[in-house]
Amino acid sequence: MGATSFKTLDDLDATGKKVLLRADLNVPVRNAQITDATRILRLLPTIQELAQKGAKVIVVSHFDRPKGKPVPEMSLGPIADALGDALGRPVTFVDDCIGPKAQQAVNAMQDGDVVVLENTRFYPGEEQNDPALAKEFASLADYYVNDAFSAAHRAHASTEGVARLLPSFAGRLMETELNALNIALENPARPVGAIVGGAKISTKLDLIGNLLAKVDMLIIGGAMANTFLAAQGVNVGRSLQEADMHDTARDILAKAKEKGCEIVLPVDAVTATDFRADVPTRTVPVTAIPDDAMMLDVGPETVTLIEQKIATLKTLVWNGPLGAFEITPFDAATNAVARDVARLTDSGALKSIAGGGDTVSALRHAGVEKHISYISSAGGAFLEWMEGKTLPGIMALENIFERALPI
Ligand code: 3PG
Ligand code: MG
Repeated sequence: MGATSFKTLDDLDATGKKVLLRADLNVPVRNAQITDATRILRLLPTIQELAQKGAKVIVVSHFDRPKGKPVPEMSLGPIADALGDALGRPVTFVDDCIGPKAQQAVNAMQDGDVVVLENTRFYPGEEQNDPALAKEFASLADYYVNDAFSAAHRAHASTEGVARLLPSFAGRLMETELNALNIALENPARPVGAIVGGAKISTKLDLIGNLLAKVDMLIIGGAMANTFLAAQGVNVGRSLQEADMHDTARDILAKAKEKGCEIVLPVDAVTATDFRADVPTRTVPVTAIPDDAMMLDVGPETVTLIEQKIATLKTLVWNGPLGAFEITPFDAATNAVARDVARLTDSGALKSIAGGGDTVSALRHAGVEKHISYISSAGGAFLEWMEGKTLPGIMALENIFERALPI
C-alpha cells in the first residue's frame, strides 16, 4: 500500500468548492474536559489550508460509541468549540450531520468558512456503511477529503462509503501518517526493528506474524514476554502469562529463526509479590524468578541489551510498553529505553515510529514524545496497519484514484 498512490490536497483545486472533511474528533474526554487535544491539533493544517484556499470546509466525525442513536453527552458540540478555539476563528456547529439542517448550513457558507456537523454515529447507517447515508453525506459537497487515519480501519459511511461517491483526497494528517508508516515498514532504512509489548500474545498474534516477515529484529517486552519465556521452560512464578499460548509462542520463535528475524527477550526482571505502587521489588535473572513473585518490568540488564540492539538499527517501530509502566517503579525500563530511542532519534541515527494508545502514553510519561520521529494519532488503525491488514478508509481513497474520476 504505497503512500503516494492517491491524491492529496496538492491535487485539489478547492477554491469556492464545498469540501466534506472526514476528521477524527474522537478525543478523550473526562468530566466534560478534553484530556488530550492531539487529534484536534493534528487536524488544523488541513482545515487551515482548505480554508485559506477558499474552500467551504464541512467537518464530519464520529465521537465515542452512541450506537446509532442521538446521545446528548456524545454530541460533537463542545468539541467543535474546542476546534474553533484551536483554529482561532469561529466555526459553526450544526446539530445534525445530514438532512435539511445540514443542507441549509452548508448553503449559507461563505468561501473559507468552517462548519462542524453532529456525530455521524447518531445514525445507525454510519457503522453499517449504508449507501443511503453515504449518499446524504455526498450530497453536501463537491469533494471528499479524508484526514481520519485513526478511523480508517472502520468501513463506515463517512470513512468508506462516501469516498465511492465523490472525488476523494487524503488530507495532510492522513498523508503524514501514511508516509510515516511507509518509512516504518514498507520501505524502511535497514536494519529495521520493532519493540512489541503489551499483556497478551493472543491479541497481537497477527501483528507479530506480520512483523516477523518485515523486520530484522523483534524486541519483546511486557507480560507477553513472560509467555515466550514460559514456553521455553522458564519458571515465571506468578507472572501474568497465557498457558494456552505456549505452542503458539514456540511456533513464532521457530518462524522467526526461519525468516532470519532476531528475537530479543528479557534476560532479567523486576519482580514483586504484589502489583501496587512502591511495593518492595527484587531484580533477578529470568531464570531465578521466585515462585511467589510476578515479573512487572524488564530489568536493567535487559535495558542494556535492548539499548545495544537498538544502536544497530536504522529504523524502529514501537508498539507497547516494556513493563507495567502505569505504576512506579515498573516504568523504569520503558522510560530508559524511551530516552535512549529519543537520543538516537535526535542524533539522526534512528528513525523512530510509535503508535497505539498505551505506547503514546508511555512515551509521554517518559517525556520524550517530541523526540520520536513520528507518533501516530491512531490506536486501532495503527495496530491493524501493523498487522498488515488493508484499511478500508485508505482502500477507498486508492480505489477512487484507480477509477480516475474527473475533477
Ligand atoms: C479511535 O479512537 O480509535 C478511533 O476514533 C475509532 O474509534 P472506534 O474504536 O470507536 O471505532
Ligand atoms: Mg478505538
